[in-house]
Amino acid sequence: MSSEEIAKYFDATEFREIREDLVFAASMVSEPKVAIDCGCGAGADIDYLARNGFTVYGFDVEQESISRCQSRFDGIGNVILSKSSFIDFDYPQASLVVADASLFFCPNSEFEHVWSNIYQCLLPKGIFCGSFLGKEDTMAVSGNNPSVFWPEVTALEESEVVALFKNFEVLRFKTHKSTGKTPQGITHNWHIYQVVAQKANN
Ligand SMILES: C[S@@+](CC[C@H](N)C(=O)[O-])C[C@H]1O[C@@H](n2cnc3c(N)ncnc32)[C@H](O)[C@@H]1O
Repeated sequence: MSSEEIAKYFDATEFREIREDLVFAASMVSEPKVAIDCGCGAGADIDYLARNGFTVYGFDVEQESISRCQSRFDGIGNVILSKSSFIDFDYPQASLVVADASLFFCPNSEFEHVWSNIYQCLLPKGIFCGSFLGKEDTMAVSGNNPSVFWPEVTALEESEVVALFKNFEVLRFKTHKSTGKTPQGITHNWHIYQVVAQKANN
């Protein structure tokens, strides 16, 4: 995606509605309230979490995201921002990890390592709230795919998503499948798994 398209995308999502799954996930967390927002974009979820008493570590591979969030959260001490990729981020211990529509773009070769880092940073009873790309999504079609915003995607079978959560209690698992038009008027098949899960207490 060009830097102009990225800026447009962040403009459109900066004040987007907060998903009910995140409200639920945040409500499940007891002290310490420390969250990581992986691929934080324009900062909609950081804003919600920071206003609800969380210390939030937000990171994103795009400088545009981090610059916007730096302005947005200027002077707010409980928001810590880094420009980083999933693989390079130094994950602090957290009671909540959020990854909304972002792990879609984790390179396949890095996914296992990234997931292991996410698992390890979560405290016992910590909550994961995020989404994964299904194989039937338009973005999962390999080759020079114009609907893919970032260079690589990881698309998973449902069984592969389920396997990620073998040491968790899955609190919510939704499969979203639909066909419609993107804001640019292009037909898109959406196939997304949304998960809220709690890590085991050991
Ligand atoms: C679809 S946007 C979602 C943004 C935000 N989570 C939201 O829900 O508003 C995907 C985000 O993932 C980020 N991203 C893409 N590849 C990444 C990578 N390898 N490491 C970290 N972030 C990445 C993008 O820059 C973008 O901000």
